[in-house]
Amino acid sequence: MAGRGGAARPNGPAAGNKICQFKLVLLGESAVGKSSLVLRFVKGQFHEYQESTIGGEFEIWDTAGQERYHSLAPMYYRGAQAAIVVYDITNTDTFVRAKNWVKELQRQASPNIVIALAGNKADLATKRAVDFQDAQTYADDNSLLFMETSAKTAMNVNEIFMAIAKKLPKTEPQSGAGGAGRNRVVDLQESSQPSRSQCCSN
Ligand code: GTP
Ligand code: MG
Repeated sequence: MAGRGGAARPNGPAAGNKICQFKLVLLGESAVGKSSLVLRFVKGQFHEYQESTIGGEFEIWDTAGQERYHSLAPMYYRGAQAAIVVYDITNTDTFVRAKNWVKELQRQASPNIVIALAGNKADLATKRAVDFQDAQTYADDNSLLFMETSAKTAMNVNEIFMAIAKKLPKTEPQSGAGGAGRNRVVDLQESSQPSRSQCCSN
C-alpha cells in the first residue's frame, strides 16, 4: 500500500534504490533508556537517515522493560529482523538482564536476527559499573554488534541503527513489518496493542 516502494514519495530514494522495511525490537530492563534511544533516533536523526544510501526503514517496537510484561515479549520479537538489547552502563543488573535477553533471542527469535547490544547512558561514565571491554568481549563471543550509546548526548544513537541497517539483507524480508510510515514507532506501553496494554497497565 502507500509507502511501500517509494517511487512517488517525496524525499524517497532515487530510482532503482529499493526500500526494504524491517521490524526492529528494543529489549532491556526497565529504565535503561529504550524509549529515549528511539526518541533520539527518530527525532534527531530522521532526515539524515532518509537521505542515506542504505535504503532501509525500520518499524521500531519499543517494548516495556518491566518484568510483568516479559511474557508478552515473544510476540514482539518473533517476527523481528533486528533487535537492540539495551543495558545501562551504571547498573550491572541491567547487563545481566541484557545477556538473558540475548540468550532468549538466540533460542527463540528468527535464526538470522541481527542483534545489537547497546550500553546506554555512556554520558554517566563517572558512575560506570559495566566495563567497556567486558561488554565488547561478550558481544564478540556472541557475534553481536556493540556500541556504548547515550540517548542524552546522542552519542552512537544514529550509528547503532545504521550499523544494524548495514547488516540486514537488501531484499524485502518475508515477514514484512507492514505499515506505511518510515521508521514507524510502535510503543507497546501506549496504544499499539490496546487490549493487551490496557489490561496490563496499572
Ligand atoms: P521502560 O519503558 O520502563 O522499559 O524504560 P526505558 O528503557 O524505555 O527507559 P526510558 O527511556 O524511559 O529512560 C529511563 C530514564 O533514563 C529516564 O529518566 C531517561 O531520561 C533516562 N535516560 C535514558 N537514556 C539516558 C542516557 O543516555 N543518559 C542519561 N543520563 N539518562 C538517560
Ligand atoms: Mg520505555
